[in-house]
Amino acid sequence: MEDPDSIFADEVDLIRDAAVLEEDYTPDRILCRDEVLTRYTSVLKPIYKGRPPQNAFLYGDTGVGKTAVTKYLRRTLERDIEQKNEQLPPSEQISLTALWINCENFTTSDHTTSSYQVAVGIVNRLREPGNRINATGYAPQDVYDLLYEELDTLTGTVLIILDEIDKLGSDDTLLYELPRSRDIGYLETVRVGVIGISNDYTFRKNLSPKVKDSLCETEIKFPAYDADELATILRDRAERALFEGAYTQETISLCSALAYKEASGSARRAIRLLRRSAEVAEEDGSEQIKPPHIRQADKDLEYGNIVESIVDQDQEKLFILAAIAHLDEAGLTPARTRTIHAAYSRVVRAYNTTSGKEPLTQRGMFNHLSKLVMFGFVRTIDRNKGARGGQWNEHEFSDEIDIQKVQEAIQEHGREWESIELRGVVE
Ligand SMILES: Nc1ncnc2c1ncn2[C@@H]1O[C@H](COP(=O)(O)OP(=O)(O)O)[C@@H](O)[C@H]1O
Ligand SMILES: [Mg+2]
Repeated sequence: MEDPDSIFADEVDLIRDAAVLEEDYTPDRILCRDEVLTRYTSVLKPIYKGRPPQNAFLYGDTGVGKTAVTKYLRRTLERDIEQKNEQLPPSEQISLTALWINCENFTTSDHTTSSYQVAVGIVNRLREPGNRINATGYAPQDVYDLLYEELDTLTGTVLIILDEIDKLGSDDTLLYELPRSRDIGYLETVRVGVIGISNDYTFRKNLSPKVKDSLCETEIKFPAYDADELATILRDRAERALFEGAYTQETISLCSALAYKEASGSARRAIRLLRRSAEVAEEDGSEQIKPPHIRQADKDLEYGNIVESIVDQDQEKLFILAAIAHLDEAGLTPARTRTIHAAYSRVVRAYNTTSGKEPLTQRGMFNHLSKLVMFGFVRTIDRNKGARGGQWNEHEFSDEIDIQKVQEAIQEHGREWESIELRGVVE
């Protein structure tokens, strides 16, 4: 029982099993994905039959079930193989090692990674803790050789699942090496199958033709969900996660409609929205989620998303946004590029006290500033005072961005909010 006197306790509890609403929860039923399941199953079937594995490339927007379906099928495949093996003599038994590699886990501060980095990661997954290799100091080919060495200590089929593969950017050597290994006889005792999962179809376009040929043997598209499909998925999740009476049909349809409209059919967004709505209702002391709770939750998520998209920017852009935030706070926006540059330089010096890294030149900074305009963080205003008065640009935050969001983003980057001296930035 909760202690009713605790400041952490709510009057009511609507969430019965919070784990079911967690990001990494794997549902034991996949809904609304029959076509995808059929195709995907046939890609994995050879493994079950002890035949050479196939490679596949999965793509679709974020939140459309790529990871969930893959985890579900992997679990089912492993279970079915186990059952089949019970009926077989040891010599005929099927051996499967499935490696789940999320490329996102190997990214650096600019949110990209390289084939090299991920290859090192795979080697280390296959090695004992005391025997791991360093992420630097090897020639790329050496790392692939180590990788083959490790793979060759296994037997049967190795299925390498590379999730968030688009994080590799344009460097696809890993995707070239892995599927190829079996063809060129690097590996003697194992057969490697690769499943690549991407949020981004353009990633495929940029793959080298050789990689396309081998990795994209089979391509499976995960279309976005429509509002009805989102409702089906959400209803199933709500039944397990929430107490009866905590939600209604209206809760489900409003959450689905909003997720459909604002996050182009993402089940992730729909589930997050349901969870946040339940929390808002609990904080409100309501025994049932009502539309105003859902609308508040939706606002909360939007806010968080914008902060996240700021956090995703590289350091220079973050410093520029910090500079504009300081100017904004002092009522100095919209500001000319050189004013922003002056403030930006002070921000850089305030943060880079130990590294001693110098600010970019005004032109260098301007390139980043233009990107911020392109991404919709910053708005440019054209000032034109006729032939005599001259023409220049001024910049300010777009409606989506404000000081608080930038401050939160800086803090999520693990830094304090530094104040700077603004005297003299405007001539
Ligand atoms: N067809 C589905 N049935 C049940 N739950 C689903 C389905 N599709 C997605 N989900 C859930 O939605 C969330 C996002 O799905 P996920 O597989 O992580 O998306 P992706 O990998 O495509 O970005 C997860 O919580 C997942 O369990
Ligand atoms: Mg995913």
